[in-house]
Amino acid sequence: MNKLLERLIEKNRYLVQYGQVASYIPKLKSANPEDIGICILDMEGNIYCSGVYNKKFTIQSISKVIALMLALVDNGEEEVFTRVGLESTDEPFNSFYKLDLSLENKPANPMINSGAIVTTSLIRGSYEEKFNKILNTIRKITNNNNIGYNKEVYESEKETGDRNRAIAYLLKNKGLLEGDVEEVLDVYFKQCSIELDLIDLAKIGLFLANGCKTLDGSYQGCNTEIATILIAVMTTCGMYDFSGEFAARVGIPSKSGVSGGILSVVPNKYGIGIYGPALDDHGNSIAGFGILKDLSNELGLNIFKICGRN
Ligand code: DON
Repeated sequence: MNKLLERLIEKNRYLVQYGQVASYIPKLKSANPEDIGICILDMEGNIYCSGVYNKKFTIQSISKVIALMLALVDNGEEEVFTRVGLESTDEPFNSFYKLDLSLENKPANPMINSGAIVTTSLIRGSYEEKFNKILNTIRKITNNNNIGYNKEVYESEKETGDRNRAIAYLLKNKGLLEGDVEEVLDVYFKQCSIELDLIDLAKIGLFLANGCKTLDGSYQGCNTEIATILIAVMTTCGMYDFSGEFAARVGIPSKSGVSGGILSVVPNKYGIGIYGPALDDHGNSIAGFGILKDLSNELGLNIFKICGRN
């Protein structure tokens, strides 16, 4: 497996020249666009890593999966999905003009920023408690209490996050957001700044692949119905307005972040973490997509694959 991962990294390395590191959050600009790494964990507890896998990076939008899980556990499906939809979208992750159309009564899904800000607001507790719940959940999943958040990235996003601010105030105006807007935004910016490495990210993937239970059974985050919803939402919305093509070409439920991370889940089999900060136009790791496509083909991981009898 290690040899395969090395080969796929080398094969897809050329792609980084066509990508760009995210710059709209100034602090993210310092990432090295040449970095590429991957870690895979299987259900036997084996771990395979290659490339740049022990560098820490901020999870950004990957945090939206954990926030959704906590919102569902705290409120139940009905309450959450009256405020945020379950439909994919062909709009960029930070788009919100549709939300302002009179016929739209909620964000399309919990993986675009507007939907994610709603799910964060639905986590029970004060704003400190909301963030601590997200952080502690990630610590329990990874069994790593050293995980924290990157203060500089958090401050950088807070300073420049006017688009998210506009989204949150519109949500409040539409009656979709409870509580203080600035406090909810603060939690959202902080959760995006949680920092980990690829071994931790693969552990989150394995937790999801195992029905939201750690391999050693020490932590169960939610029931299997919620786990199924999380994986379905990742499949239909996790790669933003590239989710459809990603599903067709890779077929592995995944969630990306603008720092270059991709969290991938092969149900009942593997947790996968990818890092590659050079991004395509949708905000997804450009080399990460290439590697996942090849990995899916070589190991037969596409969950939609038909085994034809010709
Ligand atoms: O809301 C933002 O702008 C970021 N903190 C997270 C966005 C993100 O990761 C989108 N990813 N593709």
